[in-house]
Amino acid sequence: MLDVHTISLTDMQGHACNSELTPKNDSPCIGLFDSGVGGLSVLRALQHEIPWADYIYCGDTARLPYGKRKPETIVEYSMQASRFLIESGAESIVIACNTASSVALNAVQQAFPETMVRGVVEAGARAATNATRSGKIAVIGTECTVASQAYDKAITRLAPGTKVRSYACPFLVSLAEEGWTDCDIATLAARKYLEPLFAKFAPHKADCLVLGCTHFSKFANVIQDIVGPEVALIDPADCLAKELAPNFRLPAEEKSHRTGTASFHATDAPLRFARVGELFLETPIPRESLKQITLDNQ
Ligand code: DGL
Repeated sequence: MLDVHTISLTDMQGHACNSELTPKNDSPCIGLFDSGVGGLSVLRALQHEIPWADYIYCGDTARLPYGKRKPETIVEYSMQASRFLIESGAESIVIACNTASSVALNAVQQAFPETMVRGVVEAGARAATNATRSGKIAVIGTECTVASQAYDKAITRLAPGTKVRSYACPFLVSLAEEGWTDCDIATLAARKYLEPLFAKFAPHKADCLVLGCTHFSKFANVIQDIVGPEVALIDPADCLAKELAPNFRLPAEEKSHRTGTASFHATDAPLRFARVGELFLETPIPRESLKQITLDNQ
């Protein structure tokens, strides 16, 4: 049993793969986890880039939101979800949650050295540094992600001198879990958080905004309307999927006729998870591929 309290939380910038993945068989199996439906936007991006892989998704719906919890708790939950995914057959793990990527990536990589473990933060930071022209980047995420400064550190390590401002928008997570991502309430909430930051004469107005929470991807239209077309929106899910694809190459003839499988696991209310989750995955979640599970100490 791992003692999560012995794992250092001070270096939250870890991003290296534990091992470059050589698929052990013809169909790679990738496990993903998040607190709820948000990580399905990462699954969607991965399925688009690597459609021949098999996927196992775990949504810890019994314990969301993660973003208001302390880092040690998120490390513990991340460890449990990762162990579940590996025991279920995942050969590599994508932490489909910015909060867990910010505070638990190193711990999960250290705990499972044989498994390639990747988070979303590094890919999002890289895309943002490539996109900005003004050198001013804004990041929105959960309270925990913002407090960890994971994006601030990753961005300034990649592009020293870049100005980064991170803002917590926790209510957007609740709206996402309701499936309310493109409606009047979503616009009001996003406006409340973002308008002061992107007003015409805002002192640190950025030209690039990182959607630093996987629950925020479906707010992209609403957010783009508020911040204006001159601000580039970065969804780390898309960036990570593109970065990972070369690790999962199959011979061309096998790729063309193989579509991978996906199974879905929620720690509470799986039917609700599937109903709202379909919005994020943008494809139906077959009920026979859906299971309720219990993680350790849940
Ligand atoms: N979707 C997660 C993230 O990317 C966490 C949201 C939450 O549970 O607070 O940070």
